[in-house]
Amino acid sequence: MVGGLYAGPPVRGAEAAGDGGAAPGSRVSVTVNGDRHTVTIDNRTSLLDLLREHLGLTGSKKGCDAGACGACTVLVDGRRVNSCLTLAVGLDGTEVTTVEGLARGDELHPLQQAFIDQDAFQCGYCTPGQIMSGVACVQEGRTGSPEEIREWMSGNICRCGCYVKIVRAVEQAAHGK
Ligand code: FES
Ligand code: FES
Repeated sequence: MVGGLYAGPPVRGAEAAGDGGAAPGSRVSVTVNGDRHTVTIDNRTSLLDLLREHLGLTGSKKGCDAGACGACTVLVDGRRVNSCLTLAVGLDGTEVTTVEGLARGDELHPLQQAFIDQDAFQCGYCTPGQIMSGVACVQEGRTGSPEEIREWMSGNICRCGCYVKIVRAVEQAAHGK
C-alpha cells in the first residue's frame, strides 16, 4: 500500500509500559524505496521492526538485534545505519532504502549482480546487509584497495566466512573488475 495509514500490530513488550495502559505511540511518515508510508507505532519500535513487521519488507535481516552483526543495514537519507539500533519514531520525513529497493524491475543493482558473479554468499543471511553496506561503501569512495573495503565493511559479519568474495564483489561494483 502506498500512502496509506497503518495501525501496526501490537509490539512485543508493549505491556511493559508500566501502568497497564497502551504504550506511548506516535505517527511517523517515512518514504521507503520511493513509497510514502504513514504508520502509527509504539515509540520503542526499531526501524528494523517497522520494516519487517509493519511494512512486510523482510529483506533486512535480524541477526543480533544489538548492533553487532550488520545484517539489518539499510540506508537512511543515503547513509548506512543499523536499523535494529535506530528508533523509527525519529525518522519522520526521511527516505529509507532497503535491499528490496535496489533493483530496477528485472535489472539488478550492479552490486547485487556482482554478488552473484563472485559467488559472494553461502547461506545468504548476511547478504542483504552486506549489499546495502557495500552500496554505501562504493558511494562513499571507500574502495581504493581490498584493505580499505575490508575496513569499511567491517561492521558486517559473515558467519559463513565469505569475506574474500564479498570484497571482490564490492570491487567489481566499484571498478568493474
Ligand atoms: S541485527 Fe542489527 S546489527 Fe545485528
Ligand atoms: S553468507 Fe552466511 S552469514 Fe554470510
